[in-house]
Amino acid sequence: MKNILIIHGPNLNMLGQRENKWYGNTTLAEINNSLKQQNLAHYSLKFIQSNFEAEIVEHIQKIVSNHTNFLILNPAGLGHTSIILRDALLCITIPFIEVHLSNVYQRENFRHTSKTWDLAMGIISGLGAYGYNLALQAAQNHLEN
Ligand code: DQA
Repeated sequence: MKNILIIHGPNLNMLGQRENKWYGNTTLAEINNSLKQQNLAHYSLKFIQSNFEAEIVEHIQKIVSNHTNFLILNPAGLGHTSIILRDALLCITIPFIEVHLSNVYQRENFRHTSKTWDLAMGIISGLGAYGYNLALQAAQNHLEN
């Protein structure tokens, strides 16, 4: 059994009601359900959403001891600002894919920079909720090859 952790950062619990122009109408529960449906045998998915930087950091730290094999992370606004998040990601040795629903390059300049992108195995930005499905597919592909 391979364990894949999906972390959704601050304000992503508001999907469906939040800036539909950028994030669409899909709720977080719908995104998670669609990943569960895509899930193949031999994979266990764990979902976390938090609005608290420290809580996200603690979940990332636990990756070291809890046999997580792959991380899919939407750090939301923290990705643009958080050295603490970067330091947490530097503690882990498993790969991660970073997902952004919106194309951050179509948006304000402050969203064009990141504290985490260079650490990611890959980045998906601008494909909406489908970006998560692609990330899960890529994670499975990585873990099988
Ligand atoms: C986001 C993009 C970020 O710039 C923003 O702060 C978010 C969501 C996205 O999924 O497109 O909260 O990560």
